[in-house]
Amino acid sequence: MCGIFGIVTEKEEKLGPILIEAARRLTYRGYDSVGAATISGGKIDLRKDVGRVDEVAAKYHLSEMTGQRGITQLRWATFGEPSQINSQPHLDSDGDIVGAHNGNVVNNVELRQQFIAEGMTVRSQNDGESCVHAVERYINKGYDFIEAIRLAYGDLQGDYAFVIGQINDDKLYAIKKGSGLVVGIGEGFTCVSSDLPSLLPLTCTIIRLNDGEIITLWADRVDLRSVRDGAIIDRQPELITEEMSAVQKSGFDHFMLKEIHEQPQAAREVLHMLEGSTDVQTVLDKIKAARHVYFLGCGTSYHACQAGSVYFAQLASKSVIPVVATQFIPQYLPAVNHEDVGIFVSQSGETKDVLNALQAAEASGMTCYGLANVIGSTLTRSTAAWLPLCCGYEISVPATKTFTNQVVTFLYLAYRLGDRDTKELENIPELMEQTIVLTAPQVEALVPSINAWNDLYCLGYGATYAMALEGALKLKEITYAHCEGMLSTEFKHGPLSAVTKDFPILFVAGPQDVPLIVSGLNEVTCRGGRAIAIGEEDERLRANASDVIIIPSSSPMISSLLAVIPLQLLSYQMAVARGYDPDFPRNLSKTLTVD
Ligand code: M6R
Repeated sequence: MCGIFGIVTEKEEKLGPILIEAARRLTYRGYDSVGAATISGGKIDLRKDVGRVDEVAAKYHLSEMTGQRGITQLRWATFGEPSQINSQPHLDSDGDIVGAHNGNVVNNVELRQQFIAEGMTVRSQNDGESCVHAVERYINKGYDFIEAIRLAYGDLQGDYAFVIGQINDDKLYAIKKGSGLVVGIGEGFTCVSSDLPSLLPLTCTIIRLNDGEIITLWADRVDLRSVRDGAIIDRQPELITEEMSAVQKSGFDHFMLKEIHEQPQAAREVLHMLEGSTDVQTVLDKIKAARHVYFLGCGTSYHACQAGSVYFAQLASKSVIPVVATQFIPQYLPAVNHEDVGIFVSQSGETKDVLNALQAAEASGMTCYGLANVIGSTLTRSTAAWLPLCCGYEISVPATKTFTNQVVTFLYLAYRLGDRDTKELENIPELMEQTIVLTAPQVEALVPSINAWNDLYCLGYGATYAMALEGALKLKEITYAHCEGMLSTEFKHGPLSAVTKDFPILFVAGPQDVPLIVSGLNEVTCRGGRAIAIGEEDERLRANASDVIIIPSSSPMISSLLAVIPLQLLSYQMAVARGYDPDFPRNLSKTLTVD
């Protein structure tokens, strides 16, 4: 969701290609507009518009932009419609300062009124422009740039990071408050970005910023200060060892397909990590003694919580409440106390809805743990202990490998809590590999006959209920079809009336639930609908479903995990068949840092 990148070089050079490449690497976060600005000597060259990176780059000849400092920004609209004027970067009133932000300035509307009343030229509705004017306000009063940023920080409410620079200077400045910001140090240049993928092609020497820190970038050095008192912070750069292949497609047509295929290896790594983790026992001891246990997340991460609560009940006789993070405050918070435990689940570790629930839970005395993929994210820095998902980068907006590793982690914790031998779980990576190989052609054969439908249902029961929810979300997210995920037993309580000839209904069948699923299949087929069963080889499914997608045999809980893979593949293949880019679905963002 929005992304910023800034670079400072020793002398004036062609920065356009570097900015375009950085922007391309930020696209996975989701965006609707693109902009770039370069500063050379006494002038700022600003070009921006709504559209994809390559479209805006071609239309405005971004590759020709030169300067000694450059900024690029990808915008995902929150304040103000997607338009050229609302695109970022933004200028100050006189066009001497340029800046761009990532995040959400919640008092943007009030600030804009103040800036206008103070005589500044406000051109857009966008809150990124407010960051620039908030600095300009104090420059106009005679403060130096660092002081002006510190004072602006006091005026700008919300979670954001911004990068800013002025003419007749040789530096860029950036500040972090709630949104990600990483600094890169290279040979003859320094740079700053919302996250690592846009920095790694340029340098592996980085400094991670914490909230409330300002960085000044020269071509050959940086200095880091606390926004509170302006004091210098001494932080040594770290060397990143992640390979660039992690952020490349490596021969796959899309990141999503690559990430689906990475699931077995990711599962191997998370199981290995869990076996060696001392935090696991800490978390389990607390859960064992807890009065109430909550698993919280949003979207796909919530679905993992839903699966986890069934695993805890089935494998460890422990009751857990799965909650969509935003519903936690109205529905449960008044009843929470220090005897309760929450596991907060988030791929990005930056989802505002999850962080809001975390903050409220912590204030109520609840013991809070995290499950996150992005190391160093806010969630990992704000919980008593956290477990990493060990997935490496997940670039594609639809979550795949981070979901299956959330589920694997919950399975592992349930096995341990139930004093079960976790050895059985070591089969998971191999079973996932078999599932991909076995189901990809079955899914491919199914797609042409259902792809014209824009209404589908995806049903599950028990442990497969979460997979049905997840399959439905994946289908909605990247094929833009309406697909409702629900309990198979609820279908007869209303939605059955929607069934017409060939209407496709996907049934995710756990091996122990086949008799129940068979009733559901028949309720659909006898009304002319198309009942598609996903489950282990079983004569009863073959005899009663219109189509079957067979997954390898395993135990009931592991089987539920495997069943989501053909649903991921189905969504992917349908999206591609419809001509959509599954990696960057419209209107969506990988990291949702707004309420
Ligand atoms: O980073 P998080 O796991 O907290 O993200 C939560 C949801 O926004 C996310 O899972 C979303 O539903 C995915 N794009 C689904 O593929």
